[in-house]
Amino acid sequence: MANSLSMNDQRAIPQLGFGVYQASPGEESKGAVLEALRQGYRHIDTAQFYRNEKDVGAAVRESGIARADVFVTTKIANPNQGYESTKKSFERSLQQAGFDYYDLVLVHFPVTARRKDTWRALSELRAEGKAKSIGVSNYTIRHLLELFDQSEVLPAVNQVELSPFCHQKELLAFCEKHRVVVEAYSPLTQARKLADPTIAGVAKKLGKTPAQILLRWAVQHRLVVLPKSVTPARIKENAAIFDFHIADDDMARLDQLDENFRTCWDPTDVP
Ligand SMILES: NC(=O)c1ccc[n+]([C@@H]2O[C@H](COP(=O)([O-])OP(=O)(O)OC[C@H]3O[C@@H](n4cnc5c(N)ncnc54)[C@H](OP(=O)(O)O)[C@@H]3O)[C@@H](O)[C@H]2O)c1
Repeated sequence: MANSLSMNDQRAIPQLGFGVYQASPGEESKGAVLEALRQGYRHIDTAQFYRNEKDVGAAVRESGIARADVFVTTKIANPNQGYESTKKSFERSLQQAGFDYYDLVLVHFPVTARRKDTWRALSELRAEGKAKSIGVSNYTIRHLLELFDQSEVLPAVNQVELSPFCHQKELLAFCEKHRVVVEAYSPLTQARKLADPTIAGVAKKLGKTPAQILLRWAVQHRLVVLPKSVTPARIKENAAIFDFHIADDDMARLDQLDENFRTCWDPTDVP
């Protein structure tokens, strides 16, 4: 169903991923992931912090889809950062999911005193093949420059909050230049901007929903996009974004909506 993007480590990542933040651990998370896999998603974005790695693993197995055909990401939670604790917590993440590897493992947040050691541990996990690709999340340009200085291993992705309302143009240009794929989290603004008149206007014109316009905008900006839903009809709606196109003039109007609107963490001032 979805397109793939190529990462700087020569691996491919499906452009549409399924987010499971704030899906309750247990039946809700497992059911949502199973539904997403049924609807054609082949990329699931979990994290230690979300407490549903176990449910993601169970859903992948129950789906009957080969492990190799599903791209699964996890992230090292802030309290688990540091060299030893990253390695230890990652083993637990593997055990929880019942996997012998993750496709992508991220530093969840640039924790000041620990992020360098977390990266060193992830680089080793990649060399061992337990993390096929590694990357970062919530990194600003400053944090990325520090990492480039520290390590030969480039992050394959940077997962950050991104929507027309939080466009982060400078960061996008920087990541493009350094061949770091950008993953858009909270691409639906946690549903807070779905009634925006510009979004609604483009949606009406194209016969699509506001959610589909937000997701398609991200796809046309060559981002990985990670919508979350536990509602079957919305899971289906959010995947139907590859059979239409937003025209250049409408893309330009959507590009004007930036107001640094954040629903989640703002890492701007993290030293
Ligand atoms: N790296 C990080 O620090 C970080 C931070 C935040 C998020 N993320 C990742 O990004 C994913 C998505 O972000 P998010 O969960 O913050 O928010 P989001 O995907 O922007 O929005 C999710 C919210 O929108 C609702 N929704 C979904 N589809 C809809 C539709 N078609 N129409 C109307 N409402 C809809 C969902 O409700 P229902 O579920 O009730 O349907 C839920 O309340 C996360 O799950 C996680 O994987 C990463």
